[in-house]
Amino acid sequence: MNETLKTIAERYSCRDFADTPLTEEQVRAIAGAALAAPSAMNRQPWHVIVITDKALIDELDAEGMSVLAAAGDKAGYERIKSRGGKIFYNAPCMVMVASDGSDYASMDCGILSQNIALAGHSLGLGSVICGMAGIPLSGPHGEEMKKKLKFPDGYCFGIAVLLGTANSGKEPHEHDRSKLTCLA
Ligand SMILES: Cc1cc2nc3c(=O)[nH]c(=O)nc-3n(C[C@H](O)[C@H](O)[C@H](O)COP(=O)(O)O)c2cc1C
Repeated sequence: MNETLKTIAERYSCRDFADTPLTEEQVRAIAGAALAAPSAMNRQPWHVIVITDKALIDELDAEGMSVLAAAGDKAGYERIKSRGGKIFYNAPCMVMVASDGSDYASMDCGILSQNIALAGHSLGLGSVICGMAGIPLSGPHGEEMKKKLKFPDGYCFGIAVLLGTANSGKEPHEHDRSKLTCLA
């Protein structure tokens, strides 16, 4: 198996990060991998915001938990509580991907997020693509948070990826062969 296929096969979602910050070199490599992503008609309908300010990530986490706590359905809140009470698993780096909301933008942002996850794994970092990073932006302080994160005007949450040194590893998920048809 070549190195690229090995990285794809071994990547897993990490939900247990150490405090260790990313190095500048790691951040540069991650940002480059993000911007290298393909997009429909090369529109690049994203704005990539790399957050290594742990206090800001913690603020987003706390806001997300308070939005979840206020929701009618407490399932999300309880799930995070059972996982240690942190939506962002103490990750020292979050890459927030803002989307311009145009056609194909959500697919393009998804592809970009996988570039980040794979780049992270190839650098020996744990990563998890994080849809829940949209939660703190959906509550009463959402617009304030977007301003703090320097979302361009008119951009909405696309996706996010959390990165950092993994405290513990995990096996990649099992492949479901029933989801595959090969016609020859
Ligand atoms: C679009 C998307 C959103 C996700 N959002 C979250 C999330 O908010 N929190 C989380 O812990 N995992 C999240 N995940 C990770 C999935 O749960 C994970 O990819 C899946 O369980 C398969 O496990 P694996 O990545 O270890 O193979 C997300 C994955 C994708 C692709």
